[in-house]
Amino acid sequence: MESSYKVNTIRCKWANYINYTYIISKAGTKECLIVDPAWEIKKIISYLNLNDLKVKAILLTHSHYDHTNLVGALVSAFDAEVYISGIEAKHYRYCCKNLHYVENLELLPLSFFKVRVLLTPGHTRGSACYLISDNLFTGDTLFYEGCGLCDTSEDASDMYDSLQFLRNSISKDTIIYPGHCYGVYPGQPFELILKDNIYFNIKDKSKFIDFRLNVAKKNLFAFK
Ligand SMILES: [Fe+2]
Repeated sequence: MESSYKVNTIRCKWANYINYTYIISKAGTKECLIVDPAWEIKKIISYLNLNDLKVKAILLTHSHYDHTNLVGALVSAFDAEVYISGIEAKHYRYCCKNLHYVENLELLPLSFFKVRVLLTPGHTRGSACYLISDNLFTGDTLFYEGCGLCDTSEDASDMYDSLQFLRNSISKDTIIYPGHCYGVYPGQPFELILKDNIYFNIKDKSKFIDFRLNVAKKNLFAFK
């Protein structure tokens, strides 16, 4: 990571939902990016105020409500631009003010940040990860402990391809920031996840599909 970039991890909670929202800033500038803003606006605004930051853009990994519910509030407060994959927005009819569609491998020059889009369908039709320097924001595609829920075997097949795509696209030193954690705190190196995460260690695609769908039948939030 460029040493002047800072990733601030904010744990945001409502009822039984716990999400991780990320604020990315750069030393010496007053603009920041936010990934998947959710649930606790006061926590987010107080961090922004404390650090004298304005939100330049919001990056959405997918359209689920637990990843997007503060978009409206932040767009109103900062007139921020909002980015989501075009496939995702069109399929689930997600819309908001200042919305832009992104595509796989697109490079977004946002203020002082260069953001690479990696499209990773599976959890949803148009899920995306965002690579900023050597930080990858993975939403519900990839967690330390597993991968996101897949509704159908077609989705699980896409998830298999997406995880292989990540394996082949990012360096082992990349730091992974997921949308949720299930025991291991966000900010772990990809190398460790490749080793510990069972979904990278099922080599056969049809076994992967069966495994992902069967585990979810037993417990939605279990991975093994
Ligand atoms: Fe989700």
